[in-house]
Amino acid sequence: MSAGEREPVGVVGVGWVGLVTAACFASQGHEVWAMDVNAARIESLRGGELPFHEPGLGELIAEHAERLSFTTSMEELLAGSRLLFCCVDTPPTYSGDADLSRVRSVVDQLGGDSDHALVMKSTVPSGTGQSIRRNLPDLSYVSCPEFLKEGSAVDDFLHPDRVVIGADAGDEWAADAVACLYEPLGGELVRTDVASAEMIKLASNAFLATKISFINEIANVCEEVGADVTEVSRGMGLDERIGNKFLEAGIGYGGSCFPKDVSALKQLAGNSGYHFQLLNSVIEVNELQKRRVIGKLTKHLGPLVGKRIALLGLSFKANTDDMREASSLVLSARLQGEGAAVAAYDPVASTGAAGMLPSVELATSAEEALAGADAAILVTEWPEFAELDWKALATTMKRPVLVDGRNFLDPAQMRAAGYTYEGIGRGVPAGG
Ligand code: UDX
Repeated sequence: MSAGEREPVGVVGVGWVGLVTAACFASQGHEVWAMDVNAARIESLRGGELPFHEPGLGELIAEHAERLSFTTSMEELLAGSRLLFCCVDTPPTYSGDADLSRVRSVVDQLGGDSDHALVMKSTVPSGTGQSIRRNLPDLSYVSCPEFLKEGSAVDDFLHPDRVVIGADAGDEWAADAVACLYEPLGGELVRTDVASAEMIKLASNAFLATKISFINEIANVCEEVGADVTEVSRGMGLDERIGNKFLEAGIGYGGSCFPKDVSALKQLAGNSGYHFQLLNSVIEVNELQKRRVIGKLTKHLGPLVGKRIALLGLSFKANTDDMREASSLVLSARLQGEGAAVAAYDPVASTGAAGMLPSVELATSAEEALAGADAAILVTEWPEFAELDWKALATTMKRPVLVDGRNFLDPAQMRAAGYTYEGIGRGVPAGG
């Protein structure tokens, strides 16, 4: 590949990571082949239909469609590109280990081809790359973990903080080629070995999850001592060694990555004989945090049997329709377990949620969900919830009790609008 020439890119798996990767490389002027075994998904992508909600992605695909080819054929992919980005998912198994069956099936299809390099974007345990390389010594292998956040994935891809590129001896050509693809995007290129690159990914996500569980525990103590965790977090975050990101208390982290990656790292450590004590607590705190909201409700409502509770937001965070490991799933099950009826509204996740929450009443607006409710829980920080006419809505509820699971609304304003307001970690100071 001579300087200035664009490298064709192959992407295996057009789930969320694969599709963002494919669209973003196409937007950088590269020819992209995107392959998936799911023929229906490939067909709808060819018709311009996106399988999930991700801001800006549909527009990017439409804008660069002439450089994006969707296929179900591995032969076509291999003929079109020498760098194959593996973007298949690695969901958790019952033991907490990552399920690598889809990765294995990709590797089996590739065989020991010396003209191609497999660039692993899927999150895999440390040691996976080395074992693939041992079995297929001709195939070059690069670990290039993704750090994209749902809801801002396109922007994260095009403006990375850093790009981690791990390769072992003999695969320098492939690592150089991957580096050329990412260089124009800026962000520091971290060139390292495969095992370290794999560990950077798991350790980064586990650290961020630890930060969240830590601030959630601080929030719980704040409630006992009359402190406000949003103030505490602001004061802590200004210390550059701590930083203000991922320091927002709430009802626990969810999504397709943190719960899975924290378990995978814990399991990886355990499988190699090391007991990762801290991660056990991170997981336990997160589980308890999702349930603590129930106590906040019973404090005001007494037993929940026969009560109607409205959930505002279902997705695991705003700007995505993803319900994987969402706090809303645990919450609605707990509420129903206590005998409450649950009504819910989400601006984008309701359609997908129908199958996951069969006994929850899915409302078509926040107003509908709140009407006649004994209490409401704000589960997801959708911007439109800040725009609601809360004062008017209070009069439509049976009891205006509001638990703000994201500390998203202003407590003073909500109290002035007539609500019994409970945030997370927002204790009332002595005499306040
Ligand atoms: C995460 C990582 O951030 C990303 O680098 C990785 O590639 C994939 O996993 P994502 O799952 O999209 O991204 O969501 P993220 O924005 O990281 O949030 C994860 C969860 O933590 C959400 O449930 C969010 O609500 C919660 N969270 C986040 C908090 O509770 N408090 C915070 O301060 C930040």
